[in-house]
Amino acid sequence: MSLSIGIHDLSFATGEYVLEHTTLAAHNGTDIGKYHVGIGQESMSVPAADEDIVTMAASAAAPIIARHGGDRIRTVVFATESSIDQSKAAGVYVHSLLGLPSACRVVELKQACYGATAALQFAIGLVRRDPAQQVLVIASDVSKYELDSPGESTQGAAAVAMLVGVDPALVRIEDPSGLFTADVMDFWRPNYRAAALVDGQESINAYLQAAEGTWKDYTEQGGRSLEEFAAFCYHQPFTKMATKAHRHLLNYCGKDTDNDAVAAAIGLTTAYNRVIGNSYTASVYLGLAALLDQAEDLTGRSIAFLSYGSGSVAEFFAGTLVAGYRDHLRTEQNHTAIARRTPVSYAEYRELHEYSLPTEGGDHATPAQTTGPFRLAGISGHKRIYETR
Ligand code: HMG
Repeated sequence: MSLSIGIHDLSFATGEYVLEHTTLAAHNGTDIGKYHVGIGQESMSVPAADEDIVTMAASAAAPIIARHGGDRIRTVVFATESSIDQSKAAGVYVHSLLGLPSACRVVELKQACYGATAALQFAIGLVRRDPAQQVLVIASDVSKYELDSPGESTQGAAAVAMLVGVDPALVRIEDPSGLFTADVMDFWRPNYRAAALVDGQESINAYLQAAEGTWKDYTEQGGRSLEEFAAFCYHQPFTKMATKAHRHLLNYCGKDTDNDAVAAAIGLTTAYNRVIGNSYTASVYLGLAALLDQAEDLTGRSIAFLSYGSGSVAEFFAGTLVAGYRDHLRTEQNHTAIARRTPVSYAEYRELHEYSLPTEGGDHATPAQTTGPFRLAGISGHKRIYETR
């Protein structure tokens, strides 16, 4: 009999601050309708100077360790495209901050926003080989574009942590997957740059082609039909992208593409991304959290996932909600993670955007800003120093 493997627990964290799109619009003279309706974003998380992908990841994962312990975790896979080191995996810092067992492998994965889905699929393979182990999958990113660029309104930051194992309490992940890879330069960040480069319209087209490609492969692999899905969790660089992608898929399948059909399929998945912004690897799983926190009982229903990472790689797969999943949700914690953020003025946001650790090393203490459980205290001798608050 095949094992039931999937997401046993899911927890997320985001940045200390929030910039409202009304504040950005007042600064750059944009009609707020472009942000609220055109791209479907209301606000974006902004990390404090003493937060990064490690502090957000540890904050996301700590409640999972508190609930389940870390004894069965033998692998940590950390997916990110805002990596802090060319050699050391960010997950090693998280492993230390969480006090996980030393008998554990820790690795970092990268392929733009798609990385966390690769991590989830690899985790499932590891659990299938050794069903006694659990894998901690972490997706953590800070999305940063140049000030006053078209991408600026789609920034954001968040980390999602997922515990993967047998007999999951939330979602059983199914075979097959639909896969798609194409060598495109729609969005990339060379090693010498802090902010990504992007060809906005090309990236939207590349995403839509990838969605179509994954669906085609998914169908050929014998996957479910569109009608079987209760909802669709798309990667959401901005929430309107989920609308575009779903309409594209419906159109490709010759289905009705009216607003109601699209809203019914994706509406509930956009609530967190709409106020957090693009969290790259974490985005599609924030969509899942938002759906589960708001939907009526979906026990036994299947959900579709479309994970897209620029460059590009994409995957379409399905998950089924298991009986009792609602007892394991973190709805209140999730609402608090969003509500606890402090709003910043445009000037404060700009200062945070321009802040960076010295690139030549040396001793540097970060300003104490975060009220979260972990902070990046500074850098000394080219080493990042983390603290538990
Ligand atoms: P832009 O070019 O400034 O915006 O930036 P626009 O002129 O295309 O307008 C956007 C929408 O707002 C349009 O709607 C306008 O009509 C509408 P659409 O035609 O698309 O339906 N609009 C209005 N609506 C209501 N009231 C108004 C109004 N004015 C205009 N007054 C763009 C948009 C997305 C290109 C830009 O933000 C950008 O470059 N973002 C970054 C790239 C991105 O997010 N790409 C998405 C696909 S790639 C991806 O998802 C991967 C990624 O996450 C990275 C990774 O994988 O690592 C990015």
